[in-house]
Amino acid sequence: SARKRLALQGDLLDFTGVPLLGEEACAAVRFRPDHWLLIEDGRIVGAQPEAPDDSWQRELHTGRLILPGFIDTHVHCPQLDVIASYGATLLDWLKTYTFPAEQRFVDPQVARAGAELFLDALLANGTTAAVVFPTVHPVSVDALFEAASARQMRIISGKVLMDRHAPAGLSDDVEGARRDCETLIQRWHGQGRNSYALTVRFAITSTPEQLAMAGELMRADPSLYMQTHVAENTEEVRWVAELFPEARSYLDVYHQVGLLTPRAVLAHGIWLDDADRALLRDTGAHIAFCPSSNLFLGSGLFDWQAAVDIGHGVSMASDVGGGTSLSMLRTLAEGYKVQALRGTRLTAWAALHAATRGAALALGLEEEIGSFEPGCMADLAIWDWAVGPVAVHRDAVARGEVVPLPAQSLHARVFAWMTQADDRNLVAAYVAGQPCWQRG
Ligand code: GUN
Ligand code: ZN
Repeated sequence: SARKRLALQGDLLDFTGVPLLGEEACAAVRFRPDHWLLIEDGRIVGAQPEAPDDSWQRELHTGRLILPGFIDTHVHCPQLDVIASYGATLLDWLKTYTFPAEQRFVDPQVARAGAELFLDALLANGTTAAVVFPTVHPVSVDALFEAASARQMRIISGKVLMDRHAPAGLSDDVEGARRDCETLIQRWHGQGRNSYALTVRFAITSTPEQLAMAGELMRADPSLYMQTHVAENTEEVRWVAELFPEARSYLDVYHQVGLLTPRAVLAHGIWLDDADRALLRDTGAHIAFCPSSNLFLGSGLFDWQAAVDIGHGVSMASDVGGGTSLSMLRTLAEGYKVQALRGTRLTAWAALHAATRGAALALGLEEEIGSFEPGCMADLAIWDWAVGPVAVHRDAVARGEVVPLPAQSLHARVFAWMTQADDRNLVAAYVAGQPCWQRG
């Protein structure tokens, strides 16, 4: 037949269920060492220990890990300009570094070059899908979706809404923003692998009228996503309480206008209470945990255990440029440390699940991304287990090759990988069965 058939051999790792937070021996983990992953016309069709026949193009990655591509559920395309900016907390960081940088994206050429740099950098970190903030400028949305389409990447994004407490070059108004959203939804929502997200920057930079407008658009089409920030920083939380005295909480500001749906992604969620967590559970909205950003901006320590206890969803996000790396592996390693400070043990399974299948579930995309289930798109990354003498030695210890130390559990080995690895470990990334990044 004319079908394109590709088979990749390596150590396949994905999830068939939800791992519990502290559970090292976990039935939801599917580890298939030395298996062939079968891909037909860009989709996963199966996996097997035997080599497939000559009708398949075969690639050997023996002794390497193959994972579903990572899903970064909260990241800012225009903030590569300000990543790793010194000495600020959220509100002065926005004013000093971020708002000036985002104004450059009014220029279509800047927006286009910025989108290409950004998406190629995601791929170079093994991230094949993302929920992305561009800027207030419609051209930044067009540039991002065009660049994503050229790469066949799974991207959720939309024009940033901000009509107060922002510089003139980053401000819209209610009716102009409504028209821009309608045009962009028409143009991009459901086109290829693109989905549109109503993108309220945060409660501080939208008037109640603009929030209400976003809620109307959401009600008109519940297939839309919503992305925003919530309860990141204590000063921010205080300001929101002043601006919205009638709301029960910061999260409630979004709920009042109908923006909390199963397709809502709220970044941070550090300063929530149990009523907020129950509201997240009941609406199906979820929190994108951004450990690198939360540490870098000194925002606080997200309480994952409380989320689990109440039963709302959590995904993982780099939040670059508040976060300091696009690497989801570095992000997961930071997430472990944040939870350690809270007295919770984040297993490699819970972390890796949240960055793959868990994010897909939270976004309602589990039939398309996040695992190697047949029917899913072949969005994946191939990783070295270890790069450099220390990691190579540590991996040998885990495998029981350093006498007299006994071989360790699979969890111990994968945890050591997750904690040490980064973009140096990436061998190749595939989107829809096509190589889209290769080392060297
Ligand atoms: N809150 C509002 N805007 C932003 C942003 O760009 N980054 C972060 N980390 N928080 C925000
Ligand atoms: Zn953010």
